[in-house]
Amino acid sequence: MEKIIIFDTTLRDGEQSPGASLNVYEKVEIARQLEKLKVNVIEAGFPISSPEQFEAVQRISEQVKVIVAALARAKEIDIKTAYEAIKNAEKKRIHTFSSTSDFHILGKFGDEKYGSNLEEKRKTVLQMSYDAVAYAKTFCDDVEFSAEDAGRTDIGYLADIIETAIDAGATTVNIPDTTGYTMPFEFGNMIAELKRRVKNIDKAIISVHCHNDLGLAVANSISAIQNGARQVECTVNGIGERAGNASLEEIVMALNVRKDLFDFQTDIITKEIYTTSKIVSGFTGIIVQPNKAIVGENAFAHESGIHQDGMLKNRNTYEIMTPDSVGAVKTKIVLGRHSGRHGLKARLFELGYNLTEEEIDKAYKRFTEIADKKKEVYDEDLRTLMGDEFFKSDEFYHLEYLQVNAGINLIPTATVQIKIKNEIVQESSTGDGPIDAILNAIDRALKIKPKVEDYHVRSVTAGREAMGEVTIRIRSDNKSYIGKGVSTDIIEASAKAYIQAINHFSNKILS
Ligand code: KIV
Ligand code: ZN
Repeated sequence: MEKIIIFDTTLRDGEQSPGASLNVYEKVEIARQLEKLKVNVIEAGFPISSPEQFEAVQRISEQVKVIVAALARAKEIDIKTAYEAIKNAEKKRIHTFSSTSDFHILGKFGDEKYGSNLEEKRKTVLQMSYDAVAYAKTFCDDVEFSAEDAGRTDIGYLADIIETAIDAGATTVNIPDTTGYTMPFEFGNMIAELKRRVKNIDKAIISVHCHNDLGLAVANSISAIQNGARQVECTVNGIGERAGNASLEEIVMALNVRKDLFDFQTDIITKEIYTTSKIVSGFTGIIVQPNKAIVGENAFAHESGIHQDGMLKNRNTYEIMTPDSVGAVKTKIVLGRHSGRHGLKARLFELGYNLTEEEIDKAYKRFTEIADKKKEVYDEDLRTLMGDEFFKSDEFYHLEYLQVNAGINLIPTATVQIKIKNEIVQESSTGDGPIDAILNAIDRALKIKPKVEDYHVRSVTAGREAMGEVTIRIRSDNKSYIGKGVSTDIIEASAKAYIQAINHFSNKILS
């Protein structure tokens, strides 16, 4: 069986999802889990884009043994910075890219200095691509080149640029369908055509990177594999820009379940898929839709009587893979208020969280608070707790105090105290409901007024004592920021979620 290289870009393209913003601690935790899942390459970030990105790529490079890739535009400063961030990695890759479609070339290289017409501009991009790969090669043997918007690029020009990149030393050439525009047969033909046209193609691995704007990212990736691609770029839960990237779990399980059709294998430990999905969703705040293939809440639920009857007689009737094969085991009661620190540490480790003693102390304190309120603590509660704001060390605003009055024939009123460094600010406000009153009071205290784009509350587990998890997405300065809050009291969870979203926004301003 031939191997398909799984290049995970959750921490780079995935983190570009609206609202997702991960701190360094969270990125390192996700990278550790990706290593456990056995992806072959972790694209850890885009180091030139911010000091926080640089630090995260650097820290990940020091902690994992798999190949760490860093993204760089076809510019010397980007490439040098990418190398600086990954230089301590055991295995490293510089990933550089140029725009190749006419749309992108005309849009991004409109300036006369790149040429006075399309033909000249194309030549400039070709030369820039060669120079970028050759420069990256002076730092690192493993260099990947991507032709951005390849899906809408003229095939003759695409073949020239890929051949040039390989001549300059690229060991992987990536064909992104950046705008999610192509159809599976069309994208597959594109890969086959490149194999025919590019003379030195056998000197590099063909990679694909598909976006999901038409819901075809996974189908396009599979079609590309059938036509010669041997690396796929994907993200956990399919998160990413706009409609997202090809979903790692869907590609892997498609190849796995349909072994009868494909002679390909991946190194992925499929039983780690569910845990990885939960960790990514917990830290990014991006909820997995219930009907999402492989990792959605309902992916293995059988509701109708006919289906349940069929399943009881023979699971194969309606099940093409078992929940166990992707690690989606039924929720268990694991711990209660009498459970000790060791029990918590062991269970968190089984769930994929590798904590330091200091972090365990923090987690245990929070766990006892929850166990006191809800008696039985489930795996789901623990995962939610881990994704909760208490692990965010970069908290700038902290909710110290909250009082809410609400009811029928009563004007909803909230008072908050927020700690900002060593200072406490206090404000009160009314609203058209208790949540609105809290948000207004926080806005007053912090003298801001972000737009609330989305508000969700969900019960983490079943039962009246379940914890409530609130997710809020706010918008400010044309960007979205997600915050999550967890508590047995959804009013408190809402306030925490809002403060966390504001913290994400403030960290961006302060960094
Ligand atoms: O979608 C895209 O084209 C990208 C490249 C930078 C690989 O993310
Ligand atoms: Zn992309």
